[in-house]
Amino acid sequence: MSTVLLAGGAGYIGSHTAVELLAAGYDVVIADNYSNSCPEAVKRVEEISGKSVRTYECDIKDSAELDRIFSENSIDAVIHFAGLKAVGESVAKPVLYYRNNIDTTLSLLESMERAGVKRIIFSSSATVYGEENPVPYTEEMPRGTCTNPYGWTKVMMEQILEDAARADKELAVVLLRYFNPIGAHPSGRIGEDPQGIPNNLMPYVSQVAVGRREKLTIFGNDYDTPDGTARRDYIHVVDLAKGHVKAIGYVLEHSGVEVFNLGTGTPYSVTEIVDTFEKVNGVPVPHVYGERRPGDLPESYANADKALAVLGWQTEKDLSDMCRDAWNWQKNNPNGYNK
Ligand code: NAD
Ligand code: UFG
Repeated sequence: MSTVLLAGGAGYIGSHTAVELLAAGYDVVIADNYSNSCPEAVKRVEEISGKSVRTYECDIKDSAELDRIFSENSIDAVIHFAGLKAVGESVAKPVLYYRNNIDTTLSLLESMERAGVKRIIFSSSATVYGEENPVPYTEEMPRGTCTNPYGWTKVMMEQILEDAARADKELAVVLLRYFNPIGAHPSGRIGEDPQGIPNNLMPYVSQVAVGRREKLTIFGNDYDTPDGTARRDYIHVVDLAKGHVKAIGYVLEHSGVEVFNLGTGTPYSVTEIVDTFEKVNGVPVPHVYGERRPGDLPESYANADKALAVLGWQTEKDLSDMCRDAWNWQKNNPNGYNK
């Protein structure tokens, strides 16, 4: 069976993807510097899967470390999750974001070339559709204008990977544009563990529900949407992880560049998320309405037809599953991996 290197594989999406790849029979190697994760997440991946995972603590920018990983393992494909992802922080520290996110990509591509590894899947984002494109987003739409450096790193890395594949006809690149991953593995053993005050909606909702935060502020209720709050395409992280298993199957058999949206195609508003979370879990989520958050779009959701047609992938879990599993993770791990 093929071996897949997960760069940034100890993180939220990487750890769930590791579980699904192992369940599908792939061997997995994880490389992570734990800048936004911890070794405990990998231990729990091993616990869930009953398999051991070779793990390297290293910076993906470090070419010598990468060369060592490629020489010590027979890697067939790489999934590149390793990146900084906090939108607000990227506005305050743009150079850090460009350095980390672009350099990890360049170092990986260079080491892959030296090792003769020709297959890479990249964690891109719906943010590359920018402000200009109408929803639902389809893959052939042009990349748009981003409102923050984080988004621009994704645009630039897509461009770098496309150019690399144009120059090397043997290179196979799959760009996965994630929408809004939420929820956790149903075991409650792995999940999203943000450092400090969460930027994203679902971890904030969960931390309010568990009593770590006093109340949620809903950013804007005067959008041109059915209930006035912004709408997003929330996707269960296990469905997203299974999308990577399909994408690995694809990238092992094809060359060139292919882009896929990984979303459900159905948007939900902030209010619908809060209401569903309260209803399925039977816990209150105190909330108030506040100003719009700068840079937020009123709506973002996928047309998910291409991933179904080409990869045979579609989501299986609904919003109740997402809210139930997010809460199951939070209440069993009120302080994340720090117990
Ligand atoms: P995460 O922070 O949980 O995981 C990223 C992992 O990469 C972390 O374990 C971190 O320690 C590691 N990392 C970062 N820089 C590194 C470096 N230089 N060397 C080694 N390891 C490094 O985030 P996630 O939510 O799992 O996201 C994974 C990828 O998906 C990221 O590239 C992110 O931008 C992208 N993405 C995430 C979302 C989302 O909402 N979570 C949406 C769209 C795209
Ligand atoms: N929201 C609140 N209160 C909060 C947090 C969020 O009302 O405390 C709202 C936001 O205003 C937005 C929605 O909840 O309307 C979702 O916000 P998130 O921060 O969870 O997600 P975003 O859609 O803003 O951002 C996500 C990823 C980014 C990615 C972007 C576009 O976090 O990495 O999708 O793909 F760039």
